[in-house]
Amino acid sequence: MIKVAVLGYGTVGSGVVEVIESNNAEVSVKAGEEMHVKYILDLRDFPGDPYEDRVIHDFNVILNDAEVSVVCEVMGGVGAAYQFTRQLLEAGKSVCTSNKELVAKHGAELLEIARNKKCSYMFEASVGGGIPVIRPITKALTAERIEKITAILNGTTNYILSKMEKEAADYGDTLKKAQELGYAERNPEADVEGYDACRKVAILSSLMMGKNVDSEKIYTEGISKISAADFEYAKAAGMTIKLLATSEALEDGSVLAMVAPAFVSGEHPLAVVNDVFNGVFVRGNMLGDVMFYGRGAGKLPTASAVVSDVIDCARHIGRSSIICIWDREEAKLADVAESRKRFFVRAKASAGEKAAEIFQGCSFVDAGRTEDIGFFTEEMSEKSFEEKSSAFGEALLSRIRLA
Ligand code: HSE
Repeated sequence: MIKVAVLGYGTVGSGVVEVIESNNAEVSVKAGEEMHVKYILDLRDFPGDPYEDRVIHDFNVILNDAEVSVVCEVMGGVGAAYQFTRQLLEAGKSVCTSNKELVAKHGAELLEIARNKKCSYMFEASVGGGIPVIRPITKALTAERIEKITAILNGTTNYILSKMEKEAADYGDTLKKAQELGYAERNPEADVEGYDACRKVAILSSLMMGKNVDSEKIYTEGISKISAADFEYAKAAGMTIKLLATSEALEDGSVLAMVAPAFVSGEHPLAVVNDVFNGVFVRGNMLGDVMFYGRGAGKLPTASAVVSDVIDCARHIGRSSIICIWDREEAKLADVAESRKRFFVRAKASAGEKAAEIFQGCSFVDAGRTEDIGFFTEEMSEKSFEEKSSAFGEALLSRIRLA
């Protein structure tokens, strides 16, 4: 029998217990042995909960119980979660997690400990929630050199942008509604400012490069400056606006990673990834393009991904099931200022001539608006765009990159 412990009995933790118990026949057959949740660690008690008898408050009970071979860390944060994970791996117990913050920050180190101790550190649920993306990248696309990843990795912001597009609504009102409906947190900063997507793309980038990509060094911009007017121009141009997390392996061995809103052609597969869904578009040098799509958040989809990792660990007791390469060596991040792209600019209605003069070769978009003008620049470096924007001065109302 595989005995499992769950650290944290919140949304994902209760989902993990539910998946293991409700799908016990399927899970046990695939694990090769019957699976049982022996402990649930939480600071709180859960009177009346069907699994209240398994709730404990002392982590050492789990650490010192030789029967427990796999532990699900679904508490979040990088404090106690980090200490517990390290101790468990050092003790030879496999750990499966949805904690993207911890994976992004200490993934390389925790993988190294797991390998040395012949156990596993698995994190399928940390990126894309229930979408299988880590396992396909590390176990299925192994013959590929992954060249680029372009992804929608945050459900909250994708929901807000989809609503803004559909209802021609502004950011502030849409965020408020999303909070009322429980789709956005009361403190939405990590989602709307792009930090959550940044951690997830740092994980994907590290797997793509085989070296550690520091999330704190990734250029990150959120969606709080996007307006209904920007969407009018996007629509007129046959495009939409998405918060894209991108990562490209450059020929000089560096990685160009960023999170920022982008104009996306209506024909791009990511343009139809709407509401709380996520999409991960991967380009391999032999395979070409492949896309993963599904529920990027939510109790049961995320828990299902955690339990898929538990099954993997159960099938590899006494050895590591990790085959990904994610060294502690730091990957070199390319300078975003030197990267080249086109930009959409929305400007004051009176600035048409100045726009044509400063952004030579730009093409105007007719959205039928009199309040402002919109145009696409030619391709240029970010640095050059910034210089031209300074010369354009207060005429510039907003600017969004083209994917
Ligand atoms: N806040 C995250 C999102 C949850 O909105 O995608 C899943 O990581």
